[in-house]
Amino acid sequence: MIRATAHGKVNAMLGVGEAGDDGYHDLVTVFHALNVRETIALTEADDPANPKVTVAGPYASSSIPCDDRNLARKAVSALAQATDTHVPVDIAIDKNVPVAGGMGGGSADAAAALVAYAAWIGLDDPQLLHDTAATLGADVPFALMGGTAIGTGRGDELATVMSDAQFHWVLATSASELSTPNVYGRLDQMRAEGRAPGPTLDAEAAVAAFVSGDPHQLAEALHNDLEAAACDMLPQLREVLETGREAEALGGLVSGSGPTVAFLVEDDTHALDLAVMLEASTSVRNVVRTSGPASGAHVVED
Ligand code: C5P
Repeated sequence: MIRATAHGKVNAMLGVGEAGDDGYHDLVTVFHALNVRETIALTEADDPANPKVTVAGPYASSSIPCDDRNLARKAVSALAQATDTHVPVDIAIDKNVPVAGGMGGGSADAAAALVAYAAWIGLDDPQLLHDTAATLGADVPFALMGGTAIGTGRGDELATVMSDAQFHWVLATSASELSTPNVYGRLDQMRAEGRAPGPTLDAEAAVAAFVSGDPHQLAEALHNDLEAAACDMLPQLREVLETGREAEALGGLVSGSGPTVAFLVEDDTHALDLAVMLEASTSVRNVVRTSGPASGAHVVED
């Protein structure tokens, strides 16, 4: 058996430009990996003709496909194809990142699966892993890399942001899910109707804040162009953001395409105070206290 892990993320800054012909929008984003992680175990397939995917853990959900549409399965198939290896493996996913929450849980599954399958076949080729990751989804290369990084293009062209500091976050997950393509589509529609502002494509303030290590500075720089669209689709997200403000979070924003809301706090005590307030909100499913940056995808030894 080979096990690998990869982390969920928050986009501390997410600027969304125009959609290209492929439907993907030009992004300027600052990814930050959080200490919430997916773990993938690969074992030799019980039935090589029908390798299985199973999902367990706090966020196991019937909405996760266990067939060829599963991102971890797609990752293994893509790397098997690229390396002409085709080892039939069963995949067991331990889900600790909310599903369809805007936190890159599916992308983390794909990244962990790539690293695990690479270890299985004895492959040491970071460029091939990156290139394969980029074919699987815009956030998968970052899940491989971890840390804090600026993403441009679709979000898959990455540059590391050097930052030694640890930041404390409180995540408020939602009982609802949001489809990423629908949230991007709603933003386009709202912009066409003059109901949402144009793109913010400057990551400088967020990058400077990560480099400085000052959470107050980072709180000022938090920004997400998709927030207006996510809140339009799920108006209760505004209440969750307001609860965070009342509890004096340093800052808060919808994570990626939502509906998870991420709050930046000063320290563990502050995180606990905010968590208590958020747990009382009927719009919140779970509250998770965490920190970042977390590492990239890697094999875990037992
Ligand atoms: O690449 P991934 O499968 O994660 O993207 C999910 C969806 O999010 C895409 O199909 C697209 O609708 C939207 N998206 C986008 N522009 C990006 C990244 C994602 O429009 N840069």
